[in-house]
Amino acid sequence: MHKNRFTRVGFILAAAGSAVGLGNIWKFPYITGDNGGGVFVLVYLATVFLIGMSIFIAEVLLGSNAHKDGVSTFETLAPKGKKYWKYSGFTFLTGFMILTFYSVVIAWIFNYIVLSLTALPASFKDSETLFLGFLKNDIYTQLIYYTLTFILIALTIAKGIKKGIEKLNNILMPALMLILLGLLIYSIQLDGFMKAVDFMFYPNFEKFKSGSIIVAVGHAFFTLSIGMVTILTYAASLDKDVNIVKASIWVVVMDTLIAIVAGLIIFSITFTAGQEPSKGAGLVFITLPAIFFEMGTIGIFLSFLFFVALAFAAITSAVSILEPTVMYLVERRNIERKKATYGAALFAYVIGIVVLLSNTAVFSESLTFGSKNLFDWFDFISSAILMPLGGIAVAIFVGYILDKEVARNAIVPHTGEKFYNIWLFIMRYVAPISVFIIMLKEIGIITI
Ligand code: PHE
Ligand code: NA
Repeated sequence: MHKNRFTRVGFILAAAGSAVGLGNIWKFPYITGDNGGGVFVLVYLATVFLIGMSIFIAEVLLGSNAHKDGVSTFETLAPKGKKYWKYSGFTFLTGFMILTFYSVVIAWIFNYIVLSLTALPASFKDSETLFLGFLKNDIYTQLIYYTLTFILIALTIAKGIKKGIEKLNNILMPALMLILLGLLIYSIQLDGFMKAVDFMFYPNFEKFKSGSIIVAVGHAFFTLSIGMVTILTYAASLDKDVNIVKASIWVVVMDTLIAIVAGLIIFSITFTAGQEPSKGAGLVFITLPAIFFEMGTIGIFLSFLFFVALAFAAITSAVSILEPTVMYLVERRNIERKKATYGAALFAYVIGIVVLLSNTAVFSESLTFGSKNLFDWFDFISSAILMPLGGIAVAIFVGYILDKEVARNAIVPHTGEKFYNIWLFIMRYVAPISVFIIMLKEIGIITI
């Protein structure tokens, strides 16, 4: 084995570390709440397992074949005369958009880890005032935690794949799973548990809006970290003889399970307290802390564990959002890893400050464009547009451009012909066409 490569388990944990993040624990529960539960979860699951998992496998295939950064991977694997495909490797730039709002949320999480131990809000009204006050007026505290976030990310990436990224995930991922398991066991014995199950799995078609499909599909890409060469970049440090299909299925199943478990935990607690789950982005930061307070001592403990788990999940993802850029700078621009890391991190850090300020009272007006402020735009554009487009580029490349033998040799020995044929069909037709239609609808060219 190459000395600077992941072990098989190391890769699965790192890829799962990338996939499992704010998308699972913060976003998934609130968008499920906002979109009526059951049917939304159904559409989401179908997209994740049909399209998401297929593209995930494709990214692992490309990375583990080329062992290079995103741009070089497409360039190497494209046939003569089609080297311009290298430009689809630049989708790592999407990472700058994601990392900015992502790190702002991590800063909120740090604040709530501290608040769990010092001063949880005593009522829902207090909780709302506290959260909105923090976002709108407490620029200083936000900036401190935000800066801390970037220091953690940069220190990890600067150490490289084995000593930095693999090690971080080997520690944080098992810890995260243990905490979530504990919280799940606690939730199962709550009165609201069955209501939570019902809410998430009973398809109530009346509450479903067609716009929810866009949200579900965008989230499927976001949650699996596909469409911006993150998974591809991690797979570049994976040996080719690993069963890439099995490894991919592991990661996708883990990501899905953790999203569902997080949803069950949050909705159980919410329903048990007699609250409603559709509270938007504030579900985790407004509803939960007030409920934790009402629980007394056990609530302090649960709150602390919950926000620590959220922080662990988010940090392993944040690292993976920046690594593709660093890998590109190291391999294509011959910049030393430390310098590349600090440079890229600093760049994202500066943009992120503007994103942070877009939530504050003083700057919100000048940083709001149309219906959304900068924070919401970055979230929307990256997950609903850029990541799906990046994913489609991968699907078209693998389905039409890449030498068929490369894909066949990487997949058939592990799965047989049938799986390969279905996978190829999804790459060539299902993924591009369905996402294309959704994009048209989104831009408003067609109405379904
Ligand atoms: N998958 C992560 C989540 O669900 C977010 C992410 C997006 C990570 C893109 C890496 C790349 O939170
Ligand atoms: Na995820």
